[in-house]
Amino acid sequence: MDIATTLPGTGSLPPRARLRSDAPAQSLDGRWAFRVSPSLRGAPADWRTADTAGWGSIVVPGHWNLQGYGTPAYSNVQMPFPVDPPFPPDASPIGDYRLEFTASGSVLAHGRRILRFDGIESAAEIWLNDTLLGTTRGSRLTHEFDVSGALVAGANRLAVRVAQFSDATYLENQDMWWLPGIFRSVTLLGRPAGGVDDVFLVADYDPTTAEGVLDAAVTTDGGATARIVIDELAVDAAPGAGIRVGVVEPWTAETPRLYEARVITATETATVRIGFRRVETRDAVLLVNGAPIMLRGVNRHEHHPEHGRVFDPRVVRDELLLMKRHNINAVRTSHYPPHPEVLDLFDELGFWIIDECDLESHGFEHTGWRGNPSADPRWQGAYLDRMRRTVHRDKNHASVIMWSLGNESHHGENLEAMASWTKTFDPSRLVHYEGDWSSRYVDVYSRMYAPFDEVREIGEEALHPAAFDRTPDEMHRLTLPFLQCEFAHAMGTGPGGLDEYWDLFERYPRIAGGFVWEWLEHGILAPDDGTGRRRFLYGGDFGEDVHDGNFVIDGLVSADRVPRPGLLHYAAVIAPVVLRVADDRTSVVIENRHDFLDLSHLVLSWQRVVDGVVTDAGELEVPACTPRSSVTVSLPTAAGEARATVATVADVVTVTAATAAATAWAPAGHIIANGQSVRASVAVAAPEAVEPAAVDGVGSVSLDPVTGRVARLGGLELSGPVVGVWRAPTDNDRDLGNDEPDLPPVAVRWHEAGIDRMVTRLIGIEATDAAVRVRTRTGTPIRDTAIDADLVWTALADGSVRLDADLVPNARWSTDWARLGLDFELPGAPQGMDVVGFGPMPSYPDLRAGARFGWWSLAADELTVPNVRPQESGSRIDVLEATVRVSGGALRIRSLDRPFAITVSPHSRGELAAAAHDWELPAPERTYLSVDLFQSGVGTATCGPGVL
Ligand code: GAL
Repeated sequence: MDIATTLPGTGSLPPRARLRSDAPAQSLDGRWAFRVSPSLRGAPADWRTADTAGWGSIVVPGHWNLQGYGTPAYSNVQMPFPVDPPFPPDASPIGDYRLEFTASGSVLAHGRRILRFDGIESAAEIWLNDTLLGTTRGSRLTHEFDVSGALVAGANRLAVRVAQFSDATYLENQDMWWLPGIFRSVTLLGRPAGGVDDVFLVADYDPTTAEGVLDAAVTTDGGATARIVIDELAVDAAPGAGIRVGVVEPWTAETPRLYEARVITATETATVRIGFRRVETRDAVLLVNGAPIMLRGVNRHEHHPEHGRVFDPRVVRDELLLMKRHNINAVRTSHYPPHPEVLDLFDELGFWIIDECDLESHGFEHTGWRGNPSADPRWQGAYLDRMRRTVHRDKNHASVIMWSLGNESHHGENLEAMASWTKTFDPSRLVHYEGDWSSRYVDVYSRMYAPFDEVREIGEEALHPAAFDRTPDEMHRLTLPFLQCEFAHAMGTGPGGLDEYWDLFERYPRIAGGFVWEWLEHGILAPDDGTGRRRFLYGGDFGEDVHDGNFVIDGLVSADRVPRPGLLHYAAVIAPVVLRVADDRTSVVIENRHDFLDLSHLVLSWQRVVDGVVTDAGELEVPACTPRSSVTVSLPTAAGEARATVATVADVVTVTAATAAATAWAPAGHIIANGQSVRASVAVAAPEAVEPAAVDGVGSVSLDPVTGRVARLGGLELSGPVVGVWRAPTDNDRDLGNDEPDLPPVAVRWHEAGIDRMVTRLIGIEATDAAVRVRTRTGTPIRDTAIDADLVWTALADGSVRLDADLVPNARWSTDWARLGLDFELPGAPQGMDVVGFGPMPSYPDLRAGARFGWWSLAADELTVPNVRPQESGSRIDVLEATVRVSGGALRIRSLDRPFAITVSPHSRGELAAAAHDWELPAPERTYLSVDLFQSGVGTATCGPGVL
């Protein structure tokens, strides 16, 4: 076995489309004999024939290091071994697979037989009986071998030797776990003489006539005659170009209309689901069927916390439904083609797909791109082979609108060769590649994490090209639509900045949208430690020398696909319907941001809630409203009219757009968007103060005269307040935003300024007749920066206590604060909280679009958000009133003059900041409560701009 070439695999058949057919197929998935050796040189030579009695076993498809043979490893850009192309390290584990099987009679009935491998990481040599079938390169790509001669009736011996690292590793340095093995299915195919070997159906839609035209290229065994039959369209034609099929319903991600085409020869029928659509660019705008489209996208890796990149149809279907239910309409298959059946689901449910080749040579960034295979002609065959395998396998899928050459492989003529082959082979789609900003050989200008100002300029320049002084390459680029194949990084608490990007995407016709990085966290589930907790692991947890820590935990959903606040926020930012209730509540403006649908698939309802009680509600008539236009609808007078009883807390009108009927992806009544008018009573008249006060308390509040802090409040053991301006850093706080390259990350600035360990000194306590006044100074260690607090406690006639807090920084601060608030502690873990304000999702100034005003009751486990690496989470901003439930009772907090932010956590900020994993946090014993005047945004500094 040679694992240090620069060439593609050998011996396989030319790539072709994945077809459903009535020809026989036999799965060879299941338990195989298996053995792993530490290196190729040391691996036994008799691996193909040795008795496997002493071997272990493995489930195919699967990764060996998730089945007890070795451990996973995670690194991003860094190669886990010396960059010495095309050589892998000596220590490249070698997995030997063996399977004894009997071919089914139906396969054997055909003289032509194929053995198909859908994915082997990273390089394999394959033998059937005593015949070498060949080798594979391209882990996420299909390889088929002709086994017509090698397959026998009776016992067959299949032997596959797999190298974890090989020359291919230099082309597969995607940001993900290293997971070797036969991880996709192995299938034996009986191929009928005169059967349908390959099909390429280009189903064009003419938006001016609504007619479909089919170009059908069919390859049959021995040139057998084939027919294309589409029953629904009464089509029965010979393959060829320009088959007119009459008026059709077009395919779009919003209306995923598929037609079943059968390709028939005398011996085989293959079924292909086609969607008629036309993808083009005009005047720097991305069009489908003549209309501009907006990509509301995510980057999707294949990952399962127990099975790695092994496909599970149920998990993936649910995952795609979850995307659709959160208004996501586009997926970039980062950074390799997914399992072939995922494409069927994309077609069926409706997604715009950038199908990406299995290619990333990012590791060469650390050599200054010296030796980068993209620019080395010796690798050109390997590059082209990968692209051809990608395109051929998926070429019949309506959802695929762009082919992507790969990710982060810098530039070079091998990429150019891939682009030119792709354009020639399939002019019906666009070519995408982000790595070459000159955009010479691509059809769209794509960037990742471009800052706001640059995105604005990119939008502007297409509108006013003459105003910009450009090189010829740049002039060409000006004609291309723009998208961000990655923007906003969903790591930890975040991402912020989505609204600002989306405003730009909506404003400029050139901008076709973007894809959040990334859909899913890649945590690997640790074995149960007996506590039943789900413990996720990340880079370094397996003792790797080279790793990138928790950078692999960066998704809108957790590894077990639970939505995180970022997803709820994104869903609201990208909602295809925007509802703006007029301040006077006489009307609502409905903006239809769909590209193809009007509003007739929706029901619109409204509701008025006063102090938590629904006073009026009803349905609104759904107006005619074409895609990408707006309409104003009147609201009933009951929405706005003055009421006999005036709201004491809030009076809210909510208008909701929901699906009228069940769709393939959601039941009827699924909410697409909300719009609100909130009239909040922020200024509240406090009850009268009652006397007397003393230095150890007033009314139901007892103060500790030594510290000036509360010791008890009513029946509650409450301690505080302490002035707080820090938070447990988020992943984004710990990283350097691309907008502030000269400053260290804010978490570092906070630590240097000492706001994570401030110390409070009591200046004095005095009692007047009705109030106790406590003055403190809370200062940072080492420096003289401090905040003086003037805290005045009053007892009120209704039995509550009032606290007026005046916080004055001493004007020597040079650091931003994470927040400004008062911190309290109570014994026992928190039990929950009722909130009148924005919720139920946690919110920050730049992560709040999915929150709406309401009367929310949060359970204990909804107060904060599980983060594999603990950090700040769970703030609720713009709150008018909150009742915090603890084991000893409840504490009701009401602001007298402004909305506030509140965080209730079972862990202190120090505990959160110190823990590397959530399961390392101590058992909750206390309730940490913060009432903040301000809370900072979260930004997306792990990749992209920091907090605006
Ligand atoms: C991008 C890269 C992704 C991922 C992301 C950070 O540069 O394309 O694969 O690494 O950064 O999570």
